[in-house]
Amino acid sequence: MTGFPTYRPRRLRASAALRAAFAETSLSPGDLIAPLFVKEALGEPVPISSMPGHFQHSLESLTKEARELVGLGVAGVLLFGVPARKDSEGSEAWASAGISQVALAAVKDELGDDGLVIADLCLCEYTDHGHCGILDGDTVANDPTIAAYGRIAVAQASSGADLIAPSGMMDGQVGAIRAALDGTGHDQLPVLAYAAKYASSFYGPFREAAEGAPSFGDRRAYQQDPANVEEALREVALDLAEGADAVMVKPALGYLDVVRAVKQEFGYPTAAYNVSGEYSMLMAAAERGWIDERQATLETLGSIRRAGADLVITYHARKAAEWLS
Ligand code: PBG
Repeated sequence: MTGFPTYRPRRLRASAALRAAFAETSLSPGDLIAPLFVKEALGEPVPISSMPGHFQHSLESLTKEARELVGLGVAGVLLFGVPARKDSEGSEAWASAGISQVALAAVKDELGDDGLVIADLCLCEYTDHGHCGILDGDTVANDPTIAAYGRIAVAQASSGADLIAPSGMMDGQVGAIRAALDGTGHDQLPVLAYAAKYASSFYGPFREAAEGAPSFGDRRAYQQDPANVEEALREVALDLAEGADAVMVKPALGYLDVVRAVKQEFGYPTAAYNVSGEYSMLMAAAERGWIDERQATLETLGSIRRAGADLVITYHARKAAEWLS
């Protein structure tokens, strides 16, 4: 490396064509996954107040939105179902006529092979207490919960999901799901594990959207402590050993170091989830005119790619895809 005046970094920044030719990171609609919410028995979509541009969808508006997203080149959708009826075990999560199964089948039917239909697998939207598993007193009982996750995975697989994404952060969840899928003829169905999911305050708007806030306590006894990165690498190693095909870090923006570490250490397909609070924060500032929505969004998504994410799960997917195409 030579110094100034021989090396002048500004030479390669002098025009848009030079900058484009020498960009180290790319961002395209095919790198993006759009999360979508569908609520049972809704006639019309209901706007989510803390997430401008997002809705609790009806089945009809859900399939239409999924079709439009894929038409814009987005890689696929990640579905969250909100059931009309909840119980202590979250049994609607695996009911064959449950909202997530019905929605997965409807979206798969609409998209065919044009885009991925990813099933989020968790219990918090389905339990009447809002925790991500089955309770024993005030704690989530790990092993009964992963048995239930296995049942949910089979129900989602039978409904046509292309990819199962377990987000509950129970120990052994990937292995339990893999075994349940393999035992029911779904050995070719891949698992995208929420491997390093942190107990984050940035999930707030999502809990309004998915109606899945815990009715007591918090999730710190199962989701990760934001202080830790070595632990994230152990979580990823476990999930891969249990058969995960791809892994995820969540949230994205405060955790770009984790994304980078996971990608470098394992070299597996890695997704990062740009979560609801990250979206709402940017949108709130943009609404006030404090930042430019388009530039801030593309910069944010590009940064997540630069950190090492192959896929970015983001509520900005639709607009970003429009801007990028
Ligand atoms: C369910 C789940 C959550 C999110 C995705 N899956 C909420 C939580 O763990 O409380 C958050 C997504 C977001 O904030 O966009 N376990």
